[in-house]
Amino acid sequence: MEMNLLLGVNIDHVATLRQARYTGMLDSPNAEPSPATAAIDAKAGGADSITIHVRGDRRHMQEEDAYLVKKATDLPLNFEMGNTQEMIDIALKLQPEYVCLVPETREEVTTEGGLDVAGLYDSLVPTVKTLQDAGIKISMFIDPDVYQVEASSKIDAEMIELHTGCFANADSGCARDEEIDRLKIASVRGHELGLQVNAGHGINYENIKALYEVPYLKEFNIGHTIVARSVRVGFTQAVAEMRTLMEGYSPEL
Ligand code: PXP
Repeated sequence: MEMNLLLGVNIDHVATLRQARYTGMLDSPNAEPSPATAAIDAKAGGADSITIHVRGDRRHMQEEDAYLVKKATDLPLNFEMGNTQEMIDIALKLQPEYVCLVPETREEVTTEGGLDVAGLYDSLVPTVKTLQDAGIKISMFIDPDVYQVEASSKIDAEMIELHTGCFANADSGCARDEEIDRLKIASVRGHELGLQVNAGHGINYENIKALYEVPYLKEFNIGHTIVARSVRVGFTQAVAEMRTLMEGYSPEL
């Protein structure tokens, strides 16, 4: 069975570019580029959802951006967040369709490693419940590890997002095959447990097709490479090119 994978476009790095010059000057008419406009352009290019991550340190997306992006598009919004009271409060105000819980430390360049759902189980339970009670679906950004998949199911998340960073950084064909195997095993287990299985981090125009060996995937979340490509071809075109590459995926083994 052939099925189109869904494309979630992460627009954080549109805000990274703006912050490079306009940190603390969001009210300036010169503060560009606009994440909200990028969300509109992403939809025109065929995006199925928009992802943003308001980090504790506000290095790219600001809280205000989240509301402006939500207002600018009718695409489902995937709000990535660390498990803090500050972010829970923002999510409850924002009302995104999904929250993706991610680990967050200040020093990392980007999200490194998946969330330890098994180890942090007790502190995650109230967050999951609060957000689900508000009608928000929960995704867990986890390493492709069966133990973490099972913990995500036990905590009643609707979705998992398998971390593809190790796959993307694998420096030999052999290491990459091992990562694909880990992703396959985790995806099969997630599917068995009734979870929606997504994937993201480090996916680009070159490596994306290698992930087609992984069954049961529903959505890819892709950011950096699309923003980078948009410098050359524009945002709508960069998204459309990725969308085209995503055709022809078969979710069955
Ligand atoms: N998924 C999650 C949970 C992320 O935190 C990120 C951004 O770091 C992405 C997907 C997108 O990754 P990239 O920008 O490498 O495409």
